[in-house]
Amino acid sequence: MSSIMKKEIFEEPSVIQNLIKNYVEQNREIKLKLPDKVDNIVIVASGSSYNCAAIAAPLFIEYAGIPCAYEYSSEFILQKKHFITENSLYIFVSQSGETSDTLNALKKIKEKGVKTMCITNAKDSAMWKLCDYQILSDAGEEKSIASTKALTAQIFCSILVMLKLIAKKGEDISGYLNTMRRLSEYLESITNDFEKISQAANLTAQYNNISILGNKNYYPIAKEGALKMKETCYLNVMAYPFGEFMHGHVAVLNQKSIVIAIIDEENAEFAIKNLEKIKKQYNPKVITITSVENVKSGDINIYIKTKRKMKAIFGSLLSLQLMACEMANLLDKNPDSPRGLTKVVKD
Ligand code: AGP
Repeated sequence: MSSIMKKEIFEEPSVIQNLIKNYVEQNREIKLKLPDKVDNIVIVASGSSYNCAAIAAPLFIEYAGIPCAYEYSSEFILQKKHFITENSLYIFVSQSGETSDTLNALKKIKEKGVKTMCITNAKDSAMWKLCDYQILSDAGEEKSIASTKALTAQIFCSILVMLKLIAKKGEDISGYLNTMRRLSEYLESITNDFEKISQAANLTAQYNNISILGNKNYYPIAKEGALKMKETCYLNVMAYPFGEFMHGHVAVLNQKSIVIAIIDEENAEFAIKNLEKIKKQYNPKVITITSVENVKSGDINIYIKTKRKMKAIFGSLLSLQLMACEMANLLDKNPDSPRGLTKVVKD
């Protein structure tokens, strides 16, 4: 069955293409306005946009060498003190630009005179108007309550901000830009051949004890997969980093449970070692989503062929989004009208 959610997932390759056209010049300049000096960043957001923050923050640290923290908007509002220096940049990520928690967080920090930026899909939204710097994630209108293409666009824009900050330091970013230019085609190859993803959805939909595991940047992707399955299938899906899972959480597993393991190039050895331990002790069904060739640890192995982390992040995310959407259909739930949820969460 087709749904708006599925249609929007399938739009992701063209969303990326559009962002490249909007923001990356032929001469490899990134057309974004940023503060002259940024020493540290705090990203604040909710829901899927928070997962964008959690994916992006380690990238800012690893590639741009800039300290970056991230927080749930709702927790940020409750916090008594905030870390601010002269060159702090606070980034607010929001599809709608109107979510109350994020908007209130923005208003709160603005009082301290700190530089603010938003990454939003809504030009002229409340956040757009309040921020000193604005980035339009330009995914086109997102109708599905379960956010998909807007999140992909937000992550892409966060990476562009990161690359611009690296370029400002005088470093060559052409290699990264080449990878980003090929991203659209890469995502299209996944949407063109999603037989394995459908099989994985079919298997997962038979379980109601579902854990999604991933390391580093892939842990928030696991969380996003879990969020999508909660919103569209009403299943209690949990996400964990592989290593942390072994500290007690693993006890929820048995033969009637399923583990979806995201296995990335950098952390493959660690992930597979833990996964084999899990299989031996608890014998759950296993699905892998992996950018590593020839992984055979799963009952179904979804191979998202790429050696590049900047592509694998998006490929694993899209695979989980599509899985959630397919599962909802199989479970006879309409992913376009999730029970009790609204597109914009306001006070
Ligand atoms: C995502 O699928 C959700 N519908 C929800 O978590 C959403 O991401 C969150 O409410 C934040 O919305 P925003 O991006 O518009 O601020």
